[in-house]
Amino acid sequence: GKGNYPFYMEKEIMEQPEAIKATLAPRYVDGRISLEADGVPDDVLKNCERVCVVACGTAMHAGLVAQSLIRSILRMHMDVEYASEFMYMDPVIDDKTLVLAISQSGETIDTLEALKYARSQGAKSIAVINVKGSSIARESDYVMYTYAGPEIAVASTKAYTTQMAALFALIGRMAVVRGAFNEEQEKAFVDALMQAPDAIQQVLDRKEEMHHIARGLLEAKDAFMLGRGLDYAILLEGALKLKEVSYIHTEAYASGELKHGTIALITEKTPVVALVTQERVRDKELSNIREVQSRGASVVVLVKDGIDLADADYTHVFTLPAMDDVAMAFPASAALQLLAYYVSMDRGLDVDKPRNLAKVVTVE
Ligand code: F6R
Repeated sequence: GKGNYPFYMEKEIMEQPEAIKATLAPRYVDGRISLEADGVPDDVLKNCERVCVVACGTAMHAGLVAQSLIRSILRMHMDVEYASEFMYMDPVIDDKTLVLAISQSGETIDTLEALKYARSQGAKSIAVINVKGSSIARESDYVMYTYAGPEIAVASTKAYTTQMAALFALIGRMAVVRGAFNEEQEKAFVDALMQAPDAIQQVLDRKEEMHHIARGLLEAKDAFMLGRGLDYAILLEGALKLKEVSYIHTEAYASGELKHGTIALITEKTPVVALVTQERVRDKELSNIREVQSRGASVVVLVKDGIDLADADYTHVFTLPAMDDVAMAFPASAALQLLAYYVSMDRGLDVDKPRNLAKVVTVE
């Protein structure tokens, strides 16, 4: 049941610290990352030359966060494809490709078909799956389960953050076996990752602060979410959440792209959510925020604690607990989920069952 919560979505958002702990636990052995319990052999991680994610929706967005890490940590080529587009984009797949099929249900037909195709081209595969024994789990060479427990709300929350946790463990192990991490770097990465549940908890403990911020979006028809690099990847999921449960048309936009066209859409009627968790993008991000403010937009800034926002006047600032840059996706995602949740609830919508959506999509 929903316990004390009015909707499953809130319950599932609140379950994330435990779900992430459960997902990390079997992959954390004697202070190191291990995929032994998953049965994923090191040579599969070592011998591949590129990585390709096939997934849909939220699961695909988890892949985008992983892409950012794989590029920066492993310096490896990685594609992230919509499973539904995969076959029509002439994907470059061979026996040196490691395919990651990410799916909560394990039954999404697009993802299943993309995985089958990739394997027919010789790729090795690891599926990141929440539902035991599902079709995609059965079709894949290897499976890493997420231990999110049943996700009932149509909008995915704990499945997404546990997918990230499993992918982080995978990337950490890859970095070790490929020589990208020395012991010290592995330790720093593991430490950051193990702090994810607590960082999320700190955000959840301040849910009423986000509820207050959400009230500023209730009348909006359109909204923008702006960020750069990893922040942009995180916002693609944040925007999907807000769209699907609140029906506010929301675009996540790479901040620097705004002035190549869409800034024309920014008015005092389009609230902007800006995410600043990466120190290296701070200066440029702040100047992009000023650009939208000067068009009259109200701006909510979600910022990593310790990043100096200068003394500009923002509509709201929500401070995210500081952790290593790579792991900021966890607290940032929880904050964005709460935002979507409260806008939907305060609009009086059926949060758990948005119109026209099904939990499992088995048509192509
Ligand atoms: C959005 C959402 C969907 C799913 C997508 C893939 O909140 O839930 O975008 O992520 O349909 O589903 P799975 O992960 O079951 O393959």
